[in-house]
Amino acid sequence: MRCIAESTPGPPATSAEPERASVTLRGFRAADVPRISAIVVESLHEYYDPSLYASLGAEWPEGFLVAADRSDTPVGFLLGVSQVTGEGRVLMFAVDRAWRQGGVGARLMDSFLERCRTRGFRRVTLEVRVSNARAIRFYTRYRYSVTDLLRAYYSDGENGYHMAVDL
Ligand SMILES: CC(C)(COP(=O)(O)OP(=O)(O)OC[C@H]1O[C@@H](n2cnc3c(N)ncnc32)[C@H](O)[C@@H]1OP(=O)(O)O)[C@@H](O)C(=O)NCCC(=O)NCCS
Repeated sequence: MRCIAESTPGPPATSAEPERASVTLRGFRAADVPRISAIVVESLHEYYDPSLYASLGAEWPEGFLVAADRSDTPVGFLLGVSQVTGEGRVLMFAVDRAWRQGGVGARLMDSFLERCRTRGFRRVTLEVRVSNARAIRFYTRYRYSVTDLLRAYYSDGENGYHMAVDL
C-alpha cells in the first residue's frame, strides 16, 4: 500500500464552483466506499477492493478522515494508520479535482496532525512520487521533509520520497 499520486496537475476542474465553505469533516462510513473509491481511481490511479477501506480504518478509526459536502457526499479523505509505535502514517490522501485548492486538503491534514498529537505520536510519515510537485509543496508547507529516496518504489518504476514531520 503506497501513497500513490498523479504526477501532473491535470486539467482544471470543469464542474461548477464548489461550495467549499459547506465542507465538513467526519469519520469514515461504509457507505462512503463507492465515492472514495472513485476519488482514488481519479486522483491516485489505483483501484482497491472495496473491503480494503474498512479494514485499513478499523485499527484506528480516528485516523480515517472524510471531508463531505452539504449532501454528505465525500469530496476528499485522508486515511492514516499507525504501523510503527509512536508514529502516524498517511497512507492515502486525495481531494476530488473539482474541490482542490480551496483548503479541503489543509483541513484534512490539520485535523489528522491534531489527532496524531492527541494520541501522543511524535512523528508522521508518508511516501510520495518524486514527480508529484504539488503534493510535495503541500507537505513542505506542513514542515514535512524528505528523509529517504525510495528507488523504484512505485509499480511503474518511479522513485518515491519518504517524508516525515516531527510533532
Ligand atoms: C495534495 C492534495 C490532497 C491537496 O488537496 P487540496 O484540497 O488541493 O489542498 P489545499 O486546497 O488545502 O491546498 C492546495 C493549494 O491551494 C491553495 N489554497 C488553499 N485555499 C485556497 C483558496 N481559498 N484560494 C486559493 N488557493 C488556495 C493552498 O495555498 C495550496 O497552495 P499550493 O498548491 O501552492 O500548495 C490534492 O492536490 C490532491 O488530491 N492531489 C492528487 C492526489 C495526491 O497527489 N495525493 C497525495 C498523495 S502522496
